[in-house]
Amino acid sequence: MHFDETELKAKDGRTFSLRSLEGLDAEMAIAFMGRIYAQSPYLSRYADEWSMSVEDERLYLERAHLAERHLMIGTFAAGELIAIADCYPMYSVSKMVHRCNCSIAIDRAFHGLGIGTAMMKVLIEEARSVGYEQMELEVVSENAAAIALYKKLGFVACGLLPHGFKNRDLSYYDLLSMVLTL
Ligand SMILES: CC(C)(COP(=O)(O)OP(=O)(O)OC[C@H]1O[C@@H](n2cnc3c(N)ncnc32)[C@H](O)[C@@H]1OP(=O)(O)O)[C@@H](O)C(=O)NCCC(=O)NCCS
Repeated sequence: MHFDETELKAKDGRTFSLRSLEGLDAEMAIAFMGRIYAQSPYLSRYADEWSMSVEDERLYLERAHLAERHLMIGTFAAGELIAIADCYPMYSVSKMVHRCNCSIAIDRAFHGLGIGTAMMKVLIEEARSVGYEQMELEVVSENAAAIALYKKLGFVACGLLPHGFKNRDLSYYDLLSMVLTL
């Protein structure tokens, strides 16, 4: 899906630009995801498990850009990618075409500025406009910032999967399922 470049005004007065990602963003997207996996313990992989090639990422972003129901957006600070969020179909079978999943990650240096709220609002509006009826996600139950963001936007908790992630120190994280009716 395409989303035209728009200005995003942060809580501290800075402005960022937000737009859909395209194939030409592949190198920046790979570097961004590598950084974010190293920064956050709450994502589904470790940074050393991230090994996407530029060509594969380019194809992935191009496909999303051309797809009718897969939106990938990025926020840029002075041309640098500092956040990615996406919304994509759960499954293609007809009984589940009303459901989409979403994900979001913002560079630590830019947390707490309202960027997460602004990006999630874009995902929600665009998901609604292409006919999804509900948006779903799983979040580590200790990820207070993400859970606060989702609740603020109307997501409700609908289940807890014990031991959804097993960490390298052998501890576990439970995964909270949340859903937003669109
Ligand atoms: C979760 C995340 C996307 C939030 O993005 P953000 O841009 O910092 O969020 P916002 O500034 O829009 O804040 C949204 C709300 O979250 C809450 N919040 C933000 N930081 C918080 C914190 N550290 N603790 C508790 N609540 C917090 C506030 O309620 C805030 O609402 P308010 O603006 O009305 O006060 C960001 O922390 C992030 O990318 N984390 C790492 C990756 C991740 O965990 N992704 C989600 C995986 S499911």
